[in-house]
Amino acid sequence: MGKEPGGNVVLIGFMGSGKSTVGIRLSYQLRYALEDTDKLIEARAGKSIREIFAQEGEEAFRQMETQLLEMLAGRKGQRVYSVGGGTPVRDVNRPLLRKLGTVVYLRARPETIYERLREDTTRPLLQGENPREKIGRMMAEREKAYMETADLVLDVDDLTVEQVSERIAGFVM
Ligand code: S3P
Repeated sequence: MGKEPGGNVVLIGFMGSGKSTVGIRLSYQLRYALEDTDKLIEARAGKSIREIFAQEGEEAFRQMETQLLEMLAGRKGQRVYSVGGGTPVRDVNRPLLRKLGTVVYLRARPETIYERLREDTTRPLLQGENPREKIGRMMAEREKAYMETADLVLDVDDLTVEQVSERIAGFVM
């Protein structure tokens, strides 16, 4: 069961694990509003994630993430939050995510992520040489942070978006 039945649901996981897609489906299923922290940051900054990384650097982006979480963590109930893949990595963010709601880790295999994101140009951290190797390394580095934050872990590689959404709904309701 979720931490607080009827409370917020927070989706975490690596880039390309399906947080945004599952978020859309789950918010529809639960009749909850959907919030995507990357989109909130873009709206607040008035530019895309790619531009924030290019013009201000990753550290500035990470500060924006934490500031946003601090603001959101006080809010109660009935939203689905999809957060950036790197959010749980910062120590200060993990308690904030857990305060925000029931945290669900969408876990995928590196190969699944690579196949989904090989043509992607919107993730600054995966551009450049050898994205396959980068994905494997970053996922291994982040696994502990994801596991520490999660109330529920779902292996999503062989599940449809509907199946993932069903399982989360069953857990939190
Ligand atoms: C990042 C993931 C991205 C976005 C930024 C950094 C990361 O979000 O926040 O590019 O460090 O994994 P998605 O997981 O929604 O792609």
